Amino acid sequence: MDRNADAPWSKFDPEAYVDANYRTPLDVDLLIVRMMRDHFSRCLDGTGRYTVRGVDVGAGANLYPALAMLPWCEKVVLLEYAEPNVEYLERQTAPGGLDGVWDAFWDVLAQAPAYQGVDPRARIGEVVRVERQNLFDLDGHRRWGLGTMFFVADSMSECPEEFRRGVRCFMNALTDGAPFAAAFMKESVGYQVGAERFPAYRVNEDRAWESLAPYCDGLEIHDLNHLVREGHDGMLLALGRRNSTTAAP
Ligand SMILES: C[S@@+](CC[C@H](N)C(=O)[O-])C[C@H]1O[C@@H](n2cnc3c(N)ncnc32)[C@H](O)[C@@H]1O
Repeated sequence: MDRNADAPWSKFDPEAYVDANYRTPLDVDLLIVRMMRDHFSRCLDGTGRYTVRGVDVGAGANLYPALAMLPWCEKVVLLEYAEPNVEYLERQTAPGGLDGVWDAFWDVLAQAPAYQGVDPRARIGEVVRVERQNLFDLDGHRRWGLGTMFFVADSMSECPEEFRRGVRCFMNALTDGAPFAAAFMKESVGYQVGAERFPAYRVNEDRAWESLAPYCDGLEIHDLNHLVREGHDGMLLALGRRNSTTAAP
C-alpha cells in the first residue's frame, strides 16, 4: 500500500496538472466554486471585510480556494509540500503573477455580493503567502478562522489511516467556529500527473462523514456525480464549520 512518504512529490508537475484539470474549466469545479462561495457568504455575512485569517492546505496548483476566501481575509496562507507546487504558487501570488486561467473561477465568485469590489489580482499579491508545510505536522499550534482543503487527504496516500489523519490535521488547523470547505475524489484509485503516478484513498460519502463529523457543526456532504477521468466515481464536497472538539494530530 502506497503511503504519503512513498509518492514522488518532488516530481509533481504543476503545469501538467493545471492543463489536465483547470485550464479548461470543468462544470463540476464551477459548481464547487459556486457552492463554496455561497457557504462562505452565508457563514461570514456580517463579518468585517478583511478581518479573518484563511488557510488552504495542500494548495498544489489550484488558486480557486484562495480566491474564494479573499473578501473576508486579511491574510491567506497557502500550505503545500511538493517543491514544484510551492514554486508555482509563489509565481502565481507574486505581484501581477496570477494566470488568466483563474479568471473563469473568479467570474463565478464575482456573482455574489461579497466579492464585488475585490480586485483579485491586487489582493492576491497583497495578502496571500506561500509556505512549504507537511499537512501531517499541523498539530493545532497554528489555527486559522477560514479554511479549505481540496483533493488532498484523499489524494496523498492509499492508506485509510493517513486519510483520517489528514482530515484531523486539517481540522486541527481551524479555530472553533471556522467555516471550511473540503473536497475529495470519490473512490479514486490514484492519478497521473505528467509522467508520474500519485496514490489515492478510495473515500466514499460514509467514510468522509465518519472522519469529518466529530469535528464539525452543520456538516453537509454533497455527492457531485461528475466524472472527470477514468479511475474515480465522482466528487464529494464537504461544507461546514469547525466545532470545539479537540482533534489529535
Ligand atoms: C491532487 S493534488 C490537489 C491540489 C490542489 N489542492 C487542487 O485542488 O487541485 C494533492 C496535493 O496534496 C499535496 N500533498 C501531498 N502530500 C502532502 C503533505 N504531506 N502535506 C501537504 N500537502 C501534501 C500535493 O503536493 C498536491 O499538491
